Amino acid sequence: MNTDQLHELLYQALETEQGGILVYQNALRCVLNADLKKEWEEYLEQTQNHERIIRELFEAFDLDPEVETPGRAVVREIGESLVKAMATALDAGPPEAAQLVAAECVILAETKDHQNWELIGEVAKKSKGEEAKALKTAYEEVEDEEDEHLYHTMGWARELWIESLGMPAVIPPPEEEKHVKTAIGAARAKAARSEML
Ligand SMILES: [Fe+2]
Repeated sequence: MNTDQLHELLYQALETEQGGILVYQNALRCVLNADLKKEWEEYLEQTQNHERIIRELFEAFDLDPEVETPGRAVVREIGESLVKAMATALDAGPPEAAQLVAAECVILAETKDHQNWELIGEVAKKSKGEEAKALKTAYEEVEDEEDEHLYHTMGWARELWIESLGMPAVIPPPEEEKHVKTAIGAARAKAARSEML
């Protein structure tokens, strides 16, 4: 195991969760649909909890969570640009367009977040001792929620776009109705959407 790169992954994962909190706070300024608002409020709370869980990992690894790395700076810059994009969309209007932008920004943020946790899960499988235990506990606590953040929001973005195009949409999206937690499940839910119209 390349320990330096594992530490880099943890720094980026912490920065991703911190940026994620800001992304959800701003996405909630753009949201119009009441169900999606409830969903994102829940995801914001979960993301705040994930940030706390990563901070606990830093204690287990005896790492300083304030240390800056070049990779971490890039993650922060991407997060800030997502927040800026939502502010621009909100200013420009119409509100429906800002909601679509917010859904796409959440997907972009959650794609990185989802991969970070998949990698943490992979490392946990290959590690031994106290650090492995800490990684495994964190991963098990977070993984299902991260799957929902990504796949359910992808469903929302697709259906809200379809609705905006004037076509029949499945709202809430099939991913949410079917409690999708895997990429295969998301593909199945998407394939079955026409039956749900
Ligand atoms: Fe997430």
